[in-house]
Formats: sequence, structure tokens, C-alpha cells
Amino acid sequence: MKKHFTSNIIFQNLKMQLEDGANSFREDLLIGEIEDTEIEHLAFVGPTLQKISLLEEHMNMFLFLKGNAELVADNLSFQIVPESIAIPLSFKNIQINVEEGETLHYVALTKKYTQDDHEDFNTYPNENKPDLFFTKFSDCDPYTEKIKSPKTISRTVLPEDIIPRVALGTVEALGPDEVRAHKHPMLDQLFLGLTDNCIRVYADGRSIELGPYSLLHIPIGSSHWVTVEKGDKLFYLWMDFFLDRTGQQWLKTHKPITTKKND
Ligand SMILES: [Fe+2]
Repeated sequence: MKKHFTSNIIFQNLKMQLEDGANSFREDLLIGEIEDTEIEHLAFVGPTLQKISLLEEHMNMFLFLKGNAELVADNLSFQIVPESIAIPLSFKNIQINVEEGETLHYVALTKKYTQDDHEDFNTYPNENKPDLFFTKFSDCDPYTEKIKSPKTISRTVLPEDIIPRVALGTVEALGPDEVRAHKHPMLDQLFLGLTDNCIRVYADGRSIELGPYSLLHIPIGSSHWVTVEKGDKLFYLWMDFFLDRTGQQWLKTHKPITTKKND
């Protein structure tokens, strides 16, 4: 495993090319960077049926990056496409079926729930408790934020109060553009570069280039910002891991874009 340190910005490129003849691959990502959280990258070459046991007392999150497949949980079935997410909440295991000709790459995150997290689950309304949370990133609701330009498209992928102290979203723009400097000491943030992403990420004056399929940890509390050059694409998934439930107030800086319906 190669973990890169560029000053204090820690990132890791995912290995997206399998060895000749290999039918699967796994690697750990950013070991120890996010408290109580393990992150791994897995790849499977079809045809294969993977039976996956889920860790109890943990969030089990799957971020599908490349390849098509089918996810089955009891009598539910979901079409896995690139840039989609699944979080099973009511199951002890799931199956992923990858057909011949497909290679599936995904990032799996397991995060241990605290006592406070269990208490928070009990306060959530039933509509926030799906048996399995599944969505394509491109289907998610857009929002705006002061630190972004009007042409930037941000989407909330995992809203707050489905998984305690975790929220996810995407940011997409064609350069030139930027996400202006901001700080959020109440949360640990990861960026995962998506298809064709080509950006520069700055934190407290240091910077690195972030391409597609690369995972980066924003140093907690740092002033950070992002730039994308003319003609390049900015397209990444942000993952927020709040230190405590009050930190989620930060998400109020995201303003949903409401579309007026004819009624
Ligand atoms: Fe940030």
C-alpha cells in the first residue's frame, strides 16, 4: 500500500488496474485517518457472486466507482452503476453479482457506532430508516453554498440523520472554477476524486493535485480550498465525519435548490 504525504495533506491513489489474470483485488485506504473507520478498495472481475457479511454495530457503506453489477439483499435488488452508493441498514449480509465482461470497483467504509450514535438513531423519523439506502450520485438533490460559484453543481448524496454524524455529497464544475477557502474544525473530511477529476487541493498553503480515483484527507481544522484550470473537470465526492452531533449544524450552510412545481 502506498500512502503519500505531501506536507500534511495525506492522500492515496486507488489501484484501478488489476494484474493480468487476476480476478479480484483489495487494498486498505488511509489507514487510521478517520476515527473508528476502516476504508478499503475492492475490485471483482465477472462472472462472480460475492456474498458479503456486514459488520454489526457498524455503518457499512459501499461507494461504487466503476463497472456494473447487481446488489441483492433478501428480496430487494438494485442495479449498481458507476457513482452510486449503498448503505444496508436492516440486513446482515448482501450479495453482489458481477456478470462476465464487467469489472466492479468499489470503496467500502465501515464505521463503528458510538453510544451517542445509537441514541441518535432512535430519534430519526421512519422515513430516514430505509432497509437499504441506495442512490446514483447524479440523481441526488442539488444545493448551493456561499463558497462556490453559481456554475458549480453540488449534490447531497447522503443527507444528515440517516447515518449519525456522516454526510456525503458531490461537487462538479468545468474549469476555470474554485471552491473558496473555508474551515470546519467540527468535522473530518475526505475527498474522493471521481471520473475525470483534475483539481488542485490547498490546505493551509500547501497543495496537491487530485486526480480521479484518489482519496484525500483534509487536515482537520485547516483552511482549505480547491481550484480547477480552464477546460479541466472538478468532480469529487466529499465525505463529512462529524466529531459530535452538534457539529452537523455545519450542513446548514448548504442551501437546497427548490424547484417550483406546477400545483
Ligand atoms: Fe471542506
